[in-house]
Amino acid sequence: MEVIIFENESLVAKRAASMFVDLLTAKPSAVLGLATGSTPIKTYQELIAKFNDGEVSFKDVSTFNLDEYVGLKSKDKQSYQYFMREQLFDSIDVQIENTHFPVCVDAKNNQEMAEDYEAKIAEKKGIDLQLLGIGHNGHIGFNEPSSSLSSRTRLKTLTHSTLKANSRLFKEGEVQPTMAMTMGIGTIMDAKEILLVATGKDKAQAVRDTIEGAVSASCPASILQMHPSVTVLLDKHSASNLENTEYYQRVADQVKQLR
Ligand code: F6R
Repeated sequence: MEVIIFENESLVAKRAASMFVDLLTAKPSAVLGLATGSTPIKTYQELIAKFNDGEVSFKDVSTFNLDEYVGLKSKDKQSYQYFMREQLFDSIDVQIENTHFPVCVDAKNNQEMAEDYEAKIAEKKGIDLQLLGIGHNGHIGFNEPSSSLSSRTRLKTLTHSTLKANSRLFKEGEVQPTMAMTMGIGTIMDAKEILLVATGKDKAQAVRDTIEGAVSASCPASILQMHPSVTVLLDKHSASNLENTEYYQRVADQVKQLR
């Protein structure tokens, strides 16, 4: 696990975007795993800027998002499909038919839809780079604490803490779904490379549990300690509970010299 700590969230986003650009330069038809939420928005803005500057193209890319609310359709403003079009897809040259979500409009079909999503990822020979945010409770995707660490795509009931955190995005009168379809932790761990991004003091405990805590389903992101290729990009606030920052800094400096 490579942990890199930056002064602010803009620098985090710039580094995250440059990791995508490096991958797409080497492999223009890469398969990207994408996340929603507030954290990746700045990274997506950086990617749009790089696309506008002609530094990168997404025309041969396939994407798989981590999750989608149960019951929401692509046209619903609160759906993650809508979010991705607004925050990224409408501003780049990705072919919309190459973008995928674990859609589950009718919860009764959930098993079938979940298997279909896994099959689509397998058809593309897996995800090359998976972007992750992290919940206050250590969730990745919508794999809430107590999720099986080897789970595959499936329906999950959201915790009160997640519902509360995400209620900020729902206007009065809008119904907030309480279930989501999410890639499983096993699905995420199959990605060839993983990039976890966290910013803000409110993520400091989850970040500490992820990097320096025991591997446990109580903090689903802690399983990333078992993945061979994980980069964690943090601002100084989200890194503020870490004990070994001096060591991470030294490693990052040495890796920079070697590249
Ligand atoms: C989003 C997702 C979630 C978020 C997490 C953090 O697709 O899977 O795990 O990454 O809830 O959300 P923000 O960035 O809004 O704090």
